[in-house]
Amino acid sequence: MLLRKLVAGNWKMHGLSSDIDEIQAIAAAASDYPEVDVALCIPAILIERAVRAVPGLAIGGQDVHHSDKGAHTGCTSARMLVDAGATLTIVGHSERRDAQRESDAAVKAKAEAALGAGLNVILCIGESIEVRDSGTAIETVMTQLGGSLPQSLCEEGELALAYEPIWAIGTGKTPTSDEIEEMHAAIRGKLLDRFGSDGGQVRILYGGSVKPSNAAEIFSIPEVNGALVGGASLKAADFMPVIAAAAGS
Ligand code: 13P
Repeated sequence: MLLRKLVAGNWKMHGLSSDIDEIQAIAAAASDYPEVDVALCIPAILIERAVRAVPGLAIGGQDVHHSDKGAHTGCTSARMLVDAGATLTIVGHSERRDAQRESDAAVKAKAEAALGAGLNVILCIGESIEVRDSGTAIETVMTQLGGSLPQSLCEEGELALAYEPIWAIGTGKTPTSDEIEEMHAAIRGKLLDRFGSDGGQVRILYGGSVKPSNAAEIFSIPEVNGALVGGASLKAADFMPVIAAAAGS
């Protein structure tokens, strides 16, 4: 099935109010490619300002707490993101699974809380280099997926998966096209098993060192329905060619 490509930027812990100009430049670039869905997941504190500055661009968070509200110092609920104008959020990024010790069950709860609040979700999965080298990447990611997926889906497009091999994040290394194809096919199979034909509507993004020079090749791989982009999403000059490559694929 041909799904619209989704190209999402993950700004991680980058971005100050002085970077709103860059977000405006990215929104302007994105509007040249209406055939691609473009989103930027930015620090929560910048969301409201970004939404005011670029009302046409999908702005998202990078994490949510699983609770609606309560005594959770420093955390952000899905309703708070919605209140700030966000339309999506990342959950389960490997940097949080590692540093914040987020389990599959915790990621599942976050995904369900976000979907329940009306946010679209980009749910991240991916293996370490040790797992890749041991030859068990597919089994490991399938187990992660099984434990992290929300119980059910309601609307088309509300859930996207991001396959991000940890060893490819910020390293300039990427899996081979065959390795990406094999993993994305396995993820699609699991989604179809789990959600029936609705699993065919879930976009599967690739993430990890996506940049202007490799984007076209990555987007040409079967079952790659977009990308989650870190470093190359920080500047419009780098992000624009990635969006253009998605449009051309
Ligand atoms: P890089 O594109 O900088 O490798 O980061 C990928 C990533 O972690 C996106 O979530």
